[in-house]
Order: sequence, then C-alpha cells, then structure tokens
Amino acid sequence: MTAPLRVGLAGLGTVGRAVVHELLDNADALAARAGRRLELTRVVSRTPRPEVNLGGAPFDTDLGTLTADDTVDVIVETIAGEDADAALAAARGLFEAAIAAGRHVVTANKALIALHGNTLLPAAEQAGVRVGFEASVAGGIPILNALTQGLAANRIEWLAGIVNGTSNYILTAMTERRGDFDTALAEAQRLGYAEADPAFDIEGVDAAYKLAILAGLAFDVPFDFGSVHTEGIAGVDVEDIEYARELGYRIKHLGIASCSDAGVRARVHPCLVPEHALIAKVDGVMNAVQVSGHAVGSTLYLGPGAGGAPTASAIVADLVDIARRERPGRRELRAVQSGGAAMDALRSAHYLKIPAVDEPGVFAHVAEALSREGISIEGAIQRARAIRAGEGAQWVPIVILTNVVAEADVRRATEAIEALDGVSGAIRRIRVADFGGAA
Ligand code: HSE
Repeated sequence: MTAPLRVGLAGLGTVGRAVVHELLDNADALAARAGRRLELTRVVSRTPRPEVNLGGAPFDTDLGTLTADDTVDVIVETIAGEDADAALAAARGLFEAAIAAGRHVVTANKALIALHGNTLLPAAEQAGVRVGFEASVAGGIPILNALTQGLAANRIEWLAGIVNGTSNYILTAMTERRGDFDTALAEAQRLGYAEADPAFDIEGVDAAYKLAILAGLAFDVPFDFGSVHTEGIAGVDVEDIEYARELGYRIKHLGIASCSDAGVRARVHPCLVPEHALIAKVDGVMNAVQVSGHAVGSTLYLGPGAGGAPTASAIVADLVDIARRERPGRRELRAVQSGGAAMDALRSAHYLKIPAVDEPGVFAHVAEALSREGISIEGAIQRARAIRAGEGAQWVPIVILTNVVAEADVRRATEAIEALDGVSGAIRRIRVADFGGAA
C-alpha cells in the first residue's frame, strides 16, 4: 500500500474531536477506501483536552507546530472560538502558512472560504496544494461534491436551500411545540449546532457565507459574500408561523441563488414555503439544498447540517479524496458580473402581518394602499378580537397574502400602510419562496 496520508489537526472542539474519533475508529475501512492509511500525526488546540484519545499523536497548543512538522501532509482546520474575528484570523494565518509549507488543507470554516477563498484557493492551486472545504456548507451533505462533480454536466440555473441548522431547529421547535425561541436556541447550542456567537446563525450571516460558497461553485464565479442580501429569523414569531400554516405554508429560512443574463443573485431570508413542498418538511437540524441544472432538472440533497459527526463525515471525505489524488483540478472562473441581490426588482408573493387598530375602515384603507401599487390580495385573515383576548391586545392583526409583485412596489405599499392612523407599528413582511423564479 502507498505511504500513509499524514494528518495534522487544528482544534479539538465538537468537530475536531469527531474527526479524531472517525480517523481512529474507522481507520481500516478508510484505508481501504483511500488506498492508503489516514494517520493522525499531530494535534494542536488552544485548550488541552487530556480526556480525548489522540491515538498517540503528539499534542501542542502552538499552531505553528503544524506547519513546521514535516510529518504532516495535510492540515485539518477546525478552529473555533467565542471571538469569531480571532478564530477567522487564526484560520487564515494557518491556511497561508500551510500553502507556504506545501501542506494540503481541509477546512470546515465557511467564513474563511466565503471571505478569503478568492485569494486563498488560487494561491493553493499555484502551490500545488489541495484544499477541501466540503464541511463548510450544509454539514454532512456532500453538496459541494454534487455541484462540482455529480452535476458537472450541467449549467446550474438556480439553487435554494435550508443551510443553517440552528435556524431550522428553532423554527421547527416554534412550529411543532409553539416552543419559545430562547429554549430552542439553548438546545441547539447544547447539541453543538450553533456558532460560538449564535448571532451569526440568528441574523443569517452563517447562511449567507454558505450561500456565497454555493453560488460561487454552482455558477463558476468568485465568492461574493458582500452582495448576498441577508436577513435572519429573529423577526419571525410563533403567531406568524400559525398564520402561515392557516394559509397553507411553513416558514423556513432559505438561501436562494440564481444565475441569469442579469448576473448572479443571492439572498437569504425567511420564506413562506408551500406545505406540500419537500423542503417544507425538512425539520430540526436537517439541511436541504435543491439544485436545478439544465440537463438534470431539479435535484434535492438532504441531511444533517451541523454537529460533530456529520461535519467530520464531510472532512474525512475530503481527506480520502486528497489521499486518492493529490493533484488539484483547475477551477476556471467565468466573467459573469454579480447582479447583487437586486432586491428592488425581485418579484415574489408576500405575507404581510399588519398591526391594525380595531376600528372601522382600516381594512379598506389597507386594501386601497395595496391596490394603489397594483398589488392584489390572494388571501386574508383577521381574527375577531375576542380570540386574542387574554393577550390584552388593543389591535387586531390583518394578515394578507399578496400576489407576485416587485419588491419595490410592496415596500412602497407597506410604508403607506404603516403611515395610516389605523395601523400601530411595523408590518411583518415575509416573502413566499419562489425557487425557480429566483432571478
Ligand atoms: N451553526 C451552523 C448551523 C453550524 O447551525 O448550521 C454548521 O455550519
């Protein structure tokens, strides 16, 4: 058998420990698949964890020892930390040092790839260093492999998916048990799904990193995190979920990207998804990505999007891939302009929850404001105030489902409605998922 692929690991958090476990426990099967053994030869972590069996690999707290160690062929980077900027800077420094030292790199770090991949990947390619980042998107789902290998015959038209397990976990808890946001978030943290700073999950940033990577690979364009329109789930409450259900929808946090003559467009935000759509049934920490290619049509990839073992599954798959063929393939970028999120021109139906005061004529004025912008009402709910008694509400929400309209029109209409005397606050607006109409 060929010489072993010698693996150095940075980070012994949830993911790092799961990688160690897979490499040691599954060593023979992995060797058979890779054609050579995957040998853990060094581990570095800021925090020593003497309780973790490293299979005899030397341990250090200094990252520099990984790149200096000639018994390391490939560095697995799983650095995490409360301070996201510091963790990102450490990961970037390690990546650059690995390239300089001619060591291959496998990383789960989506921020690193989304923000710095445009410089790091070509530098690695030039140095003959292979890079695997399957684990950076959608945890255990081999979606990057699907985009770059399995769907290589296709011109990808659009993709849409649930790519943040924590947000999906929270929305599922709110949907199934009317559970409160904070309890569900605490559970996601306990299970090792959430980011060290969960604001990255809740505010949609984590999903935006992942969507930038997906769009870059799907459309052969540079990663462009800056032009991803980003909204998180923080504004969605249990009442919105109930109203959506009455209208025949589930609320999901989606990342949607498309490529057309207008360029690449990418956005993450909560969406109403028809309850019969497969993606509406993807619950808990599960992720799903739907990809449409010109030849294959629509395909769907489903699996656990976060957690130690699923992420380790993707990391070890990258190691096996590197062990099999150490030379990188070429990634030719196309000169397609980024269309940005171009949200004003985006056309979708909208869920509007309007905090209306319970007095005559309000509904009529709302309908009038919508009609002035050419917006039609496809569905409406207004419960009698008695039903809301007990909440002490002085207002009765009007929930409206609009037809498919331009974002700019619905924004003007909602501003006009919010200015009405009979409306007492901000309107909750959630787009209805349109997948194929993503452009
Ligand atoms: N915090 C991320 C999530 C972990 O919830 O999906 C995986 O990237």
